[in-house]
Amino acid sequence: MSEEAKSENPPTGPEIYAEYEELRAHRPVSRNEGEPWRVARYEDVRHVLKTHADFSSEVSERMQQDENSTTTMLFTDPPAHDRLRALVSSAFTPRQIDLQEEQIEARCETLMRDFAANETGDLITAFAAPLPVGVIATMLGVEDGDFVEFKRWSDTIFTDIGEILIGTPSPAAVAAGGEMSAYFQERIARLRETPQEHLLSDLVYVDTEEGRLTDGELLMFCFLLLIAGNETTTSLIVGCARMFDERPDIFDRLRASPDLIPTFIEETLRFHSPFKATLRRAARDLEIAGQPIAKGDLILPLIASANRDERAFHRPAEFILDRKPNPHLAFGLGIHSCLGASLARMEGRIAVASMLRHLDGISLCDPQMPELDGFGAPASVKVELRPAA
Ligand code: HEM
Repeated sequence: MSEEAKSENPPTGPEIYAEYEELRAHRPVSRNEGEPWRVARYEDVRHVLKTHADFSSEVSERMQQDENSTTTMLFTDPPAHDRLRALVSSAFTPRQIDLQEEQIEARCETLMRDFAANETGDLITAFAAPLPVGVIATMLGVEDGDFVEFKRWSDTIFTDIGEILIGTPSPAAVAAGGEMSAYFQERIARLRETPQEHLLSDLVYVDTEEGRLTDGELLMFCFLLLIAGNETTTSLIVGCARMFDERPDIFDRLRASPDLIPTFIEETLRFHSPFKATLRRAARDLEIAGQPIAKGDLILPLIASANRDERAFHRPAEFILDRKPNPHLAFGLGIHSCLGASLARMEGRIAVASMLRHLDGISLCDPQMPELDGFGAPASVKVELRPAA
């Protein structure tokens, strides 16, 4: 029987979802003094994401003012965005993603086999963080000996991501950014001499009617992959473990029917959206759902709230393993929709398959662990493991 037909699942989800529910019901477009506008309902979030002419992605005043800064496609509007996205997409192809399957399988197998040899452990440090960092490092041609440094830069930069985007980055983040830039500048120069077989090399040689990527643009793309691709994928894996903790029956059902893993991943993306909110700036005086917004105001479309909107989803507070259709907004929408969505889905599917293979179950030591705002993952998630018999 489809889970859609049953209704025994109690609503779950830490406090953040109660707050989103209150916003959707009573304050769908609202803000606290000095903060961005929060947009809570599905249709309004969709509208903001889709209408890029009104809702600009050029959110960082610092980056706009700095003539020397090259921004990433995530923070640019057309026409600059269209050019960058077209150039990058011609190397970040479905074939390039398919090529990662083998390394993802191998990484999951090694990491999960070691992890499952223990009865307790830290899901983040042992599995959920090294997996996506390792995948991206390989795609960027980072050599094995440089991996620890790469992880350190990635962690330092991400810890300070809010300030990097719209504030003043910490000295540690500036230093890590400088070291990473120097590393990739040198590698890009070498790749211009001798191509290799990985994504960064393909990007160096992209040549279309849009032109070629400059060294600055290539460098920013390396940063963007770290920002957009690591913590989000880590959070997806944490979301999967949360569900196995809350609903051990789902773990057993997936073991019996692995063909349900893809819908499990989609529902986890909806239910525990890794990228809780993104940011836009009003390009003119406008309204959202009747609320006047002034040109220049910052706006937070709350993706995680939209994904639980009772106006868009049947029984949204329930995790329905085979929910169909599932038009969640976890990967965004419109011109900035996630470039790495199929890679993230593949990592999620393979990570879950490896958990099912090596474990009989997994529980969180702190089931009340809060969901974080923004798109960061927790630094540590202690778990108890039941290694497969
Ligand atoms: C579960 C994991 C992931 C989630 C939930 C996620 C979510 C998102 C979302 C919501 C956006 C749109 C942001 C906006 O409109 O402001 C986005 C953009 C982006 N993501 Fe992901 N992402 C994930 C994994 C990845 C991975 C693995 C990569 C690449 C390795 C990646 C690369 C990108 C890039 C390059 C963009 C910018 C696209 C553009 O501006 O045109 N993401 N992602």
